[in-house]
Amino acid sequence: MAKDKLIIFDTTLRDGEQSPGFSMNTDEKIRLARQLEALGADIIEAGFPIASDDDAHAVQLIAQQIRRPVIAALARCNPADIERAGESLRPAERSRIHTFIATSDLHLERKLRIGRDTCLQAVTDGVTQARGYTDDVEFSAEDATRSDIDFLCRVVETAIEAGATTINLPDTVGYCTPEEIEEFFTEVRGRVSGADRVVFSAHCHDDLGLAVANSLAAMRAGVRQVECTINGIGERAGNASLEEIVMATRVKPDRLPYTTEIDTTQLVRTSRLLSELTQEPVQANKAIVGRNAFAHEAGIHQDGVIKDRRTYEIMTPADVGVESTLVLGKHSGRHAVKKRCEDLGHELSRFELDRVYREVIALADRQKSVSDDDVAAIVGRVVSAAPAVVAGEGVA
Ligand code: KIV
Ligand code: ZN
Repeated sequence: MAKDKLIIFDTTLRDGEQSPGFSMNTDEKIRLARQLEALGADIIEAGFPIASDDDAHAVQLIAQQIRRPVIAALARCNPADIERAGESLRPAERSRIHTFIATSDLHLERKLRIGRDTCLQAVTDGVTQARGYTDDVEFSAEDATRSDIDFLCRVVETAIEAGATTINLPDTVGYCTPEEIEEFFTEVRGRVSGADRVVFSAHCHDDLGLAVANSLAAMRAGVRQVECTINGIGERAGNASLEEIVMATRVKPDRLPYTTEIDTTQLVRTSRLLSELTQEPVQANKAIVGRNAFAHEAGIHQDGVIKDRRTYEIMTPADVGVESTLVLGKHSGRHAVKKRCEDLGHELSRFELDRVYREVIALADRQKSVSDDDVAAIVGRVVSAAPAVVAGEGVA
């Protein structure tokens, strides 16, 4: 089956960076942007230039230094924001202005305090102004999934007429289920004239833990760009996680026939760099990049994985850039201990292995897991204390 290209729009440096605990200085942003380039993100949203001089400066430096991906900058639909974004992006090889305005009645009435006609005018003016800087203009209807659908369709048509090339319909407050998102995109794409001239994009938040599922559902409705972040960071509960979306397409090509440019062996490195730069640990059981994502501690699982990894793994650790994965803990079996000793260069007799195994389990009872250094120390003690191999006893 021919596969469609899925555009990966990374917003770690914008939606992710603006959330509590994840701010980065300019050097840190550039380091992360370089790694996002190595990872193969198609578009890097580098910041929101009107928010601060630092943000504008970081966008400018990223636009200067990161040459392969498209560099995007966020701007509300107003002249000052768009001018700031356009100027910050000047050095870019390829740039995108991402302009947005809220479209739900709740946001229009209570937050922006404007009517629908004013909103439509701002869309026309904002997109037209942005096209003066670049041919690549994305329009987002903030709170799209809680907007009146008739009005939203008018907004989208207005943005397309004014020259938007990508239409992003965010689930800003993470309110939808996958079925709703699929119906929503199907309806908007079906009703709006000019829909075939633009790329539709999903931007799902994780307030109900459904951001990735919703992004995948949006693809079924013809969406070909997903906005996502490393480790799923972002406002409140975060955005859809890039690593989860990409690996879902790799592991299930029959259900999700999309190609991406992502080099999946860079996923864990990128996740760890973000965690190091922000000093925010990744939850141990986080899918794909968590410390335990490929850890097998229970004896039965370790035995299975040693015999054939596919017994307990749907992707290999190497696919995402992880090297060693068998964690020795109090549930480990003799097989796992023997394998770790062999990996560390020790061929033990059955007698030695028995003693090493007992010591490893005893140590694991006292501390959470047993490191390679611990194993090496135990082996050293056991081997130096062990009597000569008993006649007839082979290697275990
Ligand atoms: O969640 C959201 O609606 C956004 C837009 C600014 C794209 O982040
Ligand atoms: Zn968002």
